[in-house]
Amino acid sequence: MQSNGEHRKIPDLKKLLADRSIILVSNRGPVEFEQDAAGNLETRRGGGGLVTAMTAISKEAKATWISAAMNDIERSLAHDDASVCLPDDSSSCLIKLVDIPEDIYNRYYNIISNPLLWFIHHYIWNLAYDPSISTGIHDAWHNGYVAANKLFAQAAVKESRKHRNPIIMLQDYHLFVAARYIRELSQEPFLFHFTHIPWPEPDYMRILPESMRTELLEGMLSNDMVGFQSRHYADNFLLCCETLLQCHVDWKAKTVTLHGHVVHVQTYPISIDHESLVEVGASDKVLEYEAKFMHDNEGLSLIVRTDRSDPSKNIVRGFRAFEVLLNKHPELKEKVKFLALLYPTRENIKAYNDYLDSIIATVNEINDRYKTDTWSPIHLRLEDNYLESIAALKCYDVLLVNPIYDGMNLVAKEGPVLNNKNGVLILSENAGATSELGNTSLVVSPFDIEGTAAAIYDALTMADYEKRARASTLREIVQRNNSVKWLYYQIKDIVRLEKKKVLDGI
Ligand code: G6P
Repeated sequence: MQSNGEHRKIPDLKKLLADRSIILVSNRGPVEFEQDAAGNLETRRGGGGLVTAMTAISKEAKATWISAAMNDIERSLAHDDASVCLPDDSSSCLIKLVDIPEDIYNRYYNIISNPLLWFIHHYIWNLAYDPSISTGIHDAWHNGYVAANKLFAQAAVKESRKHRNPIIMLQDYHLFVAARYIRELSQEPFLFHFTHIPWPEPDYMRILPESMRTELLEGMLSNDMVGFQSRHYADNFLLCCETLLQCHVDWKAKTVTLHGHVVHVQTYPISIDHESLVEVGASDKVLEYEAKFMHDNEGLSLIVRTDRSDPSKNIVRGFRAFEVLLNKHPELKEKVKFLALLYPTRENIKAYNDYLDSIIATVNEINDRYKTDTWSPIHLRLEDNYLESIAALKCYDVLLVNPIYDGMNLVAKEGPVLNNKNGVLILSENAGATSELGNTSLVVSPFDIEGTAAAIYDALTMADYEKRARASTLREIVQRNNSVKWLYYQIKDIVRLEKKKVLDGI
């Protein structure tokens, strides 16, 4: 864990790692490979917070990044057992792709990881109706989730055998049981798992049948160390181990012991690579998008949100809050615009498509009701356009980040670093980022539409000096940390733990 004052040092990750290698394993890789018309390999940045954080790290350490092949080009790279370099020259990261047969991948990704686990970890099941743990879900658990985790484990072990003393860093909810299968194949690597999303309380975890939740928790406890975004989520994990597995938890030392194996439970709030982000923000393409936003919305105050179109992001309630605002403050008509840049996600899953439909229907309804000849209140873009999102973050007056639950939410950290209008951040009390940024933003309950509308009004009418002070404090807080430091503290703890084990003769 980061101690006071330590944030001022620039951590030397390379020195800490010496000649050791990191093997990162995640479902989605940093880039997606495609082929252009001439058959050349092209890359496109992967989406989501995990990729945002891990890409920076791959520049700092000798790393191999293992992820699932997502298209035919990637499957053929996987078959050739190719190691591909990241396109960025400054990176020494090699990418290895795992070919997961389509029927396994579909069960693992579209049935178990999303929605089942994702909805449990974000508390977004509508429990009177869903989920029903049917035969299909049991089948998808064994023949999808577990099967895919075994394939990732095999690939990680194969790669680890090429290195001396490797550290395998498993990422997120797709890989909760991988460590168990890695351990069956190899005793050598240090195993660390980081959960990027919230960890729920034991009662909500009970949605999973006993056999599944036991397998999941025991899978996590096959690691040497596990990491979470906040103390609250780490404590929920400890509570799950204590109440659902009845294993020994040392609350002071933050360890769990299962069958004599001690697992260390740590907290590492993730951050962003703000220097690279600012560079991207100054790129020609971003400046072009920014100029267009400013031109198209001249004289208007901009409320901005940029998210995957995920039910956990609470997008519809955000629009409803805006509607309440327009009702209560008709003087704001033609003076304010809500810019929602959303990118469709997990499109093979019905709950996601239904949610996207309700986003579109809500926007149409509000626009039809309030639009005038020269103005419509909400501008909705449905596209995965990273650079356009960066541009929008530069020009918000109000940034709305109101997730139902969120592990961290990196948009809340990217916004203040990029924004050049002293914009106000509105933040859900259930976002991980709130523990760091809550004091300098307007904190709302994600369910409280009335309260969110009031917060938007307060943000729009806040005095300039207060906006300036808040914006500069937010920037300062975000800049104190970065994604390299985030990794550095993990590696530092790993090295310390290994030394201790040697001293203790374990
Ligand atoms: C969030 C999760 C990540 C995930 C990302 C994109 O940021 O924390 O683990 O990679 O969403 O999700 P996707 O399903 O598109 O890979």
